[in-house]
Amino acid sequence: MEIRKATNMTGAEILGVDVATGLDAEKAEAIRTALDEHGVIVLRNQNVTPEQQVEFTHLFGEPDINFNALRFGIDGSPEIYIISNINKDGKPIGTRRAGETWHTDMSYAREPAAATMLYAVEVPTLHGLPLGDTAFANAAAAWDALPTELREAVTGLRGIFDFRGRKRNSPVRAEDIAKYPPVEHPIVRSHPRTGRKSLYIVRDDCTSIVGKDAQESAALIEALADHIVKPEFIYQHKWQIGDIVVWDNCTVQHRAILDYELPHRRLMWRTTVKGDAPRL
Ligand code: OGA
Ligand code: MN
Repeated sequence: MEIRKATNMTGAEILGVDVATGLDAEKAEAIRTALDEHGVIVLRNQNVTPEQQVEFTHLFGEPDINFNALRFGIDGSPEIYIISNINKDGKPIGTRRAGETWHTDMSYAREPAAATMLYAVEVPTLHGLPLGDTAFANAAAAWDALPTELREAVTGLRGIFDFRGRKRNSPVRAEDIAKYPPVEHPIVRSHPRTGRKSLYIVRDDCTSIVGKDAQESAALIEALADHIVKPEFIYQHKWQIGDIVVWDNCTVQHRAILDYELPHRRLMWRTTVKGDAPRL
C-alpha cells in the first residue's frame, strides 16, 4: 500500500488496495488516517457491488440513508443514492445536478454528513478526455492561511445554515424540506478526530452570521467563501471508471463541474457517513 499526495495541500491517491476483497485492520487504519490527513482520498481501478461499497463505507462510520434514495436508490441497498444524468423509461435514475456550486454535504442538517463516497460506474468522456470532474477545496488549509487577526475575529462566530437558501434543481418534497429547519453551526470548526480547525462557511447554505446585520453577514460570508476556494487549496479530480473517492466534509468543500450533456453518461453511486454536530 502506498499513499501519494494529489496536490501540495489537498487529496491523496491510495495505491495497492482492492476494496472488493476486503481490508485487514492495518490497511483500514491507514486509509482512515489518510482521509484525516488529506481531506480527500482516491482509490483507482475498483470493482465493487453495492453491498461491498456499503461495507467499505462502514470503515469511516455509520452509513446514512439519504432522503433522495427513496426515489434514486438501488434495490436492496438503501444506503446508496444515485447521482446521474441517465434516464430510464423517460425518468431520471438519479440526481442529475448534485452540487454545482461550492458546498459541503448536508450543512443544512444539525448533524451534517462526516464523509461522502462516490464510486464511478460511468464517466462521460469526449474523445478520451474525462468530463464531469469534481473539485475539492481544503477549508482547513484555508483556515491555516488566514492572518491571526482575522482568525481571532471569526473564532466563535456562528452562522445560520438554511436548506432553503440554495436553489435546488430537482424538486424536493415539502415533508423533506420540513425535516431541515434552519440550524446554527460554528463557522470555524474543529475536526472530530484530529482537532484541526477548518472554516465552515458556504454561500447560499449559510444565510447569515449570528449577531451581524445583513450587510456585514453577507460581506463576511462572501469573503471567507471566496478565500476557501483559492487555487492553492484546490484538487480537481478527473474521474475514471472504477474510482472510489471519499471526502471529509469538515476538511474540504467540493463542487461538480457540469461540462457534459447526454449522450455522455455519468453514473455515480454515492454513500454518506453520519456525522456529529460541528463544534468549535
Ligand atoms: C455530491 C456531490 C459531486 C459530483 O454527491 O454530494 O456534490 O461531482 N457530487 O457528482
Ligand atoms: Mn455534494
